[in-house]
Amino acid sequence: MTTNGTGTHDTVRPDTPPAGDGPLVELRGAGKSYGNVRALHGVDLTVHAGRVTCVLGDNGAGKSTLIKIVSGLHQHTEGDFLVDGAPVRFGTPREALDRGIATVYQDLATVPLMPVWRNFFLGSELTRGPWPVRRLDIARMKDTCDRELRDMGIVLDDLEQPIGTLSGGQRQSVAIARAVHFGARVLILDEPTAALGVRQSGVVLKYIAAARERGLGVIFITHNPHHAYMVGDHFTVLRLGTVELSAARSAITLEALTNHMAGGAELASLKHELAQVRGVDVDELPDTGTLDGGGPGEGGAGSGKG
Ligand SMILES: Nc1ncnc2c1ncn2[C@@H]1O[C@H](COP(=O)(O)OP(=O)(O)OP(=O)(O)O)[C@@H](O)[C@H]1O
Ligand SMILES: [Mg+2]
Repeated sequence: MTTNGTGTHDTVRPDTPPAGDGPLVELRGAGKSYGNVRALHGVDLTVHAGRVTCVLGDNGAGKSTLIKIVSGLHQHTEGDFLVDGAPVRFGTPREALDRGIATVYQDLATVPLMPVWRNFFLGSELTRGPWPVRRLDIARMKDTCDRELRDMGIVLDDLEQPIGTLSGGQRQSVAIARAVHFGARVLILDEPTAALGVRQSGVVLKYIAAARERGLGVIFITHNPHHAYMVGDHFTVLRLGTVELSAARSAITLEALTNHMAGGAELASLKHELAQVRGVDVDELPDTGTLDGGGPGEGGAGSGKG
């Protein structure tokens, strides 16, 4: 555990393996083709307990394809995918979940009109009593939900309120707490902050950090280098299906990461284009000449603007 001796350890799941050992999840030269379309190629990625691995990249870079492999939705067509050091090939998301790999999708599978606690246990309801008279153990579900949310530092006024009335950030947070409760060791978040404003994004980032403190290995998919840099331990930037950059936090600055994301060359060309437009102050844009480039080069597709 990399929980830094903060107390409250009675809540750590027994099936959470000690950190410091090998990676929980690893991709080695992994790739995926959809028929003739090679969506992902030669990707290396490691996910360690108590670490946040950020996967960045522009639209179509292959981020979703990558997490679909890890979450059991698709199978890789090249390279290796290992869990706890052993090669695997999941047939269904259920198999991934059984190995402790949980995915929180952006369009959360919640029932908006049902209370928070009901959604927390959706599909895994607690029951009590012997078989013929078995019924929902509402008290225990409310209790557990309340405790789990508090343990993650999530404070809601009322667990009876329909989950649809929570903000986007709060809903993401509940989903994270839920995955933690049901024993996730690896938590995959597909662009959890994409549709959120600054404050709400901050809320989600806080719980990503909380999940890491609980010893989970987190894969955080995002377009946003600032969000990635706030919580990330390692950054992998995908571009056109391959790894363009893989760097530990200590090896890269936010500025360099941002430049990689934007693509130094593309940013320079965009700045040049915008300079022709009346009313756009390009002086406010970063000076791409001074950014630590080494960027993607000119290989990328043109901007396509006619
Ligand atoms: N089921 C599919 N069949 C064919 N091609 C696909 C399929 N899914 C993805 N692709 C292609 O694979 C490439 C990578 O797509 P992917 O969805 O992984 O990108 P992404 O990084 O998640 O993009 P975004 O930021 O837009 O979500 C794209 O060129 C896409 O068109
Ligand atoms: Mg995607």
